[in-house]
Parts: sequence; structure tokens; C-alpha cells
Amino acid sequence: MSFGLAGNKELLEQEAHRLYGLLGSVSYRQDLKWTYADCLQAAPYTLTINQLKKEQNAVILAHSYTVPELVLGVADFSGDSYALSLKAREVSEEKIVFAGVWFMAETAKILNPSKQVIIPAGKAGCSLADAITAQEVRALKQKYPNVPVLCYVNSTAEVKAECDVCVTSGNVFDIAENLPQKELIFVPDLLMAKNIEQELIRRGNPKKIIAAGGSCCVHDKYTVQDVQKLRADYKDIVMICHPECQPEVCAACDYVASTKGMQDFVEKSEAKIFGMLTEQGLVNRLEAAFQDKKFVWPFGTCQYMKQNTLENTFQALLEPQPDQIVTLPEDVLVLAQKSLQKMFELSK
Ligand code: 13P
Ligand code: SF4
Repeated sequence: MSFGLAGNKELLEQEAHRLYGLLGSVSYRQDLKWTYADCLQAAPYTLTINQLKKEQNAVILAHSYTVPELVLGVADFSGDSYALSLKAREVSEEKIVFAGVWFMAETAKILNPSKQVIIPAGKAGCSLADAITAQEVRALKQKYPNVPVLCYVNSTAEVKAECDVCVTSGNVFDIAENLPQKELIFVPDLLMAKNIEQELIRRGNPKKIIAAGGSCCVHDKYTVQDVQKLRADYKDIVMICHPECQPEVCAACDYVASTKGMQDFVEKSEAKIFGMLTEQGLVNRLEAAFQDKKFVWPFGTCQYMKQNTLENTFQALLEPQPDQIVTLPEDVLVLAQKSLQKMFELSK
């Protein structure tokens, strides 16, 4: 493939400097930081992608867990599932390039169906979205008639189409609390279901959560021992985790929040050192944004999110393959839209 304008040496160096300013404080793997040479290698891609975006009237939305060269180098907007869905709704450009996993790109299509939605990683899965089928949700509804069904946004469009309200990690506790019913079905995160129960007890509004599905293969790996070890290794460390973690881990941490909630917490906190039990991409964003603070990250990389690269983003803009273009049956799209609309209504 040809890079066109990126053949210009002066432009490439300028671009590498721009990238180094953004990525220089970001860790590659554990303690390895981005170098100017890394940025020079990325520069032909970022330069060309940013040019193609303009030519094609495209916008790039990237989840915070994708690689930092996408998040910081080419994305027009990056954030957590909730912020990305709000953004997807209001995109006016013709094309949305969604760097994330398949269910997220589907969500963008559901929310803005007239746009072409392309995902560089193709049908990148998610251990949660893959944990339950629409047929299994239908069986649950038959078994528990009249119990409202909440689905975590990490679910397929077909599953969303079967549910009453979609939720994200940023609004799940409030929506579960504010619904009038005392019994709720929640899919497909078994650990988050337990965390909802715990949180509603803590809020003095206990509810029974009927759960089905699986767990996030990144967040379910953290243990209480990981929390204890970081506390022992770093004095004054503030431990933060995602509500997809085990309830015991959440209980042992100082703060439990969605991706955006973690960013807001770090921004407001006076603390200087944070233990991050979450995906590496978010840690990278925090390293770039808060250079006076230290982030200790034991492990945790989402293999699905990392399938989006500069190379396949460039390729997808130039010549998207059928498995990179999101299409949905009309009936599924309309029903899934209802469960997402309900979430926006209940999040006001
Ligand atoms: P957020 O809703 O916090 O973006 O989380 C999405 C996700 O996939 C977490 O593993
Ligand atoms: Fe799915 Fe977990 Fe990856 Fe998020 S981090 S996309 S929940 S596998």
C-alpha cells in the first residue's frame, strides 16, 4: 500500500514530533515507554489516516482500551461505552470508524443507522457479549415473566433486542436502583450482577438479581491477593477497580467505577499513586493525561480491543472488507434501539 503524502520526510518528522508529545509518557509494556523512533514508525500511518478521514468525511471513535497510538494519534473522540454511545448518536459525518469490539460498533450503528459503521478489528469478540444468546434471554423471560430484563451494553444486538433496558458500567447501579421492581434479570455479567446486589444493599434498597451469562476475561482475573500485594508494595496507594471485577476485589479496593468514573476520580483525587485493576489502555490514557501521578498496573490486556491497529484502521478506511462493515437486520436494530433509548431516558 502507498502512503501518498507520508513520503515527505519533513512531514514525517513533524508528525513523529507531534506523536512523541502525545505518547512519550505512555508505557508500551509494563515500564517500556514510547520512543521517538516508535513514533517515527507510526507517523506514516497516523498522517495518512488523518488525511483519509478528511477526504472521506469520516470520524474515528475509539474505546479507551484500544492501543494508545489510535486513541491519541488518530481518534476524534475516545472514551468509555456510555460516552461513545452518546457521541455515536450525534455524529454528522458520513462514516464512523469504530475502534473497539464488535458489539460497540453494532451499538454505534443502532444509534445512528444512516451512517456507514466500520470496525478495523472486524468481528472482534468480547467474553461477555459471547456469553449469552438471544434464545437464552427468551428462555429467562419465559421462566420469569414480568421481571424487567436489564442487559449490560457488552451484549450482542440480538440480546439487546430482547431486553427492556440497556445499561453501561457508568449507569448500571443508578438504573437498577431507580427501577420500581424489587426483582430484576441482568445479563450477561455474573460478577457485575453480584456487584449490583451488593451496591443496592449498601444504598439501603436491596433487590434480587436473577443473572445469567459469564464474565470479562480481563477483569475477572484480579484477586484480593493482587490488591494486598500492591498495598504492601506501595505506601499510600489508592486501589481502583472496574465493576466487572469479583465482588471480593471490589470490596478490597478504595474505589469501584466505570472507565470514565476512574478518570474523573483520578482527576479530582489529591493522591499521587493509584493501583489500577483494569485494562492497560485506560492506564495509558491516565499516564498521558496526569503526568504528575503514578499508575501501577499489575496486568490486564483485552486481546479483542487490541485487534484494532494503525495498519487495519488505514486498510479499513481505504478498502473495508465485508466483515469490517456493520450491518443489522432491521427488526433487531429497531428493538435494540428501544433498549438503548430507555437507557438514555433513565440516565437523565
Ligand atoms: P466501560 O463501560 O467502562 O467502557 O467498559 C467497557 C468494557 O468493555 C469493560 O471491560
Ligand atoms: Fe469484553 Fe472484557 Fe474486553 Fe471489555 S475488557 S471488551 S468486557 S473482554
